[in-house]
Amino acid sequence: MPARPSSPAPAPAPTPVSVLGLGMMGSALASAFLRAGHPVTVWNRSPAKTGPLVAQGALPAATPADAVAASPLVVLCLLTNDNVDEVLDGLDGGAVAGKTLVNLTNGTPEQARALSARATALGARYVDGGIMAVPQMIASPAAYVLYSGDEEAYETHRSTLAVLGGTRWTGTDPGLAALYDLGLLTGMYGMFTGVVQALALVRTENIGAEEYAELLVPWMTAMLGGVPEIARAVDSGSHLTDVSSLAVSQAAFPNFLSTFRAQGVSTELFEPFQALLDRAVEEGYAGDGASRMVELLIKR
Ligand SMILES: NC(=O)c1ccc[n+]([C@@H]2O[C@H](COP(=O)([O-])OP(=O)(O)OC[C@H]3O[C@@H](n4cnc5c(N)ncnc54)[C@H](OP(=O)(O)O)[C@@H]3O)[C@@H](O)[C@H]2O)c1
Repeated sequence: MPARPSSPAPAPAPTPVSVLGLGMMGSALASAFLRAGHPVTVWNRSPAKTGPLVAQGALPAATPADAVAASPLVVLCLLTNDNVDEVLDGLDGGAVAGKTLVNLTNGTPEQARALSARATALGARYVDGGIMAVPQMIASPAAYVLYSGDEEAYETHRSTLAVLGGTRWTGTDPGLAALYDLGLLTGMYGMFTGVVQALALVRTENIGAEEYAELLVPWMTAMLGGVPEIARAVDSGSHLTDVSSLAVSQAAFPNFLSTFRAQGVSTELFEPFQALLDRAVEEGYAGDGASRMVELLIKR
């Protein structure tokens, strides 16, 4: 049967949204809600940051309580979850009852679970989120947000939240969005660890970083193509490899560390990797691939 063109998704009905926290990210979120036609109320600890949003049509709230009272959907984007706790500390007991709190502040799974329990005890519905974008990407097709927690509240507000970017539900355990988020950021920081070490190494011979990046980016992109195979081995528990064994990596790794030292580059980022390779071989996994290291890293 020929595929029928799907009709565009209906525009979400305007839903009042309050955004608490107007740093770089919170301002981008509030602006996206405004551009999509939602009535937006904004609060920020330093009131001056409300100015640009008010100029775009947002209503300023003098206090967090006023902001929470203004909308059924309350989005929080503060620096830390301690800040979110402080904001909740300052609210009267019943202020958040009946509201949906969507907390897009970066935090830990434990913090998300504790905030969910606290919000639920106050009669609110709690959804935690992890933003996979920088502020400039918000509302573009490249942005998406991970969500977990109260699924009914998430479904009620999903079309409104979708103006920020793609929506990705991770489960009813409120800690899951933070876990997925931290996992993705772990991959990113691991990648940047390699990038800064490689650029430090070549800079010691005055090789231009931009010139070298022309080699580094396609190389790293090609290596990322091996991730699904590593993941398959992790899931199957079958770690033997015919690509590159831990024994080969262990034999080569001293060359990295001694070259860093010889070139005057710190080894602090890479010594732990050598230690893990050594342990893997000592424990009898010389013939296995990188996937074995996943098991060696898990402590519980
Ligand atoms: N920027 C990014 O690329 C990005 C990407 C993904 C996720 N995130 C996450 O989004 C969150 C906000 O990041 P951001 O880039 O917007 O940071 P930011 O520009 O530094 O803004 C921090 C916000 O937190 C508020 N804040 C700090 N301490 C507070 C306190 N004790 N009480 C109340 N409010 C307080 C600040 O208020 P003042 O204006 O009064 O200081 C400001 O509104 C963070 O959790 C971050 O990890 C950011």
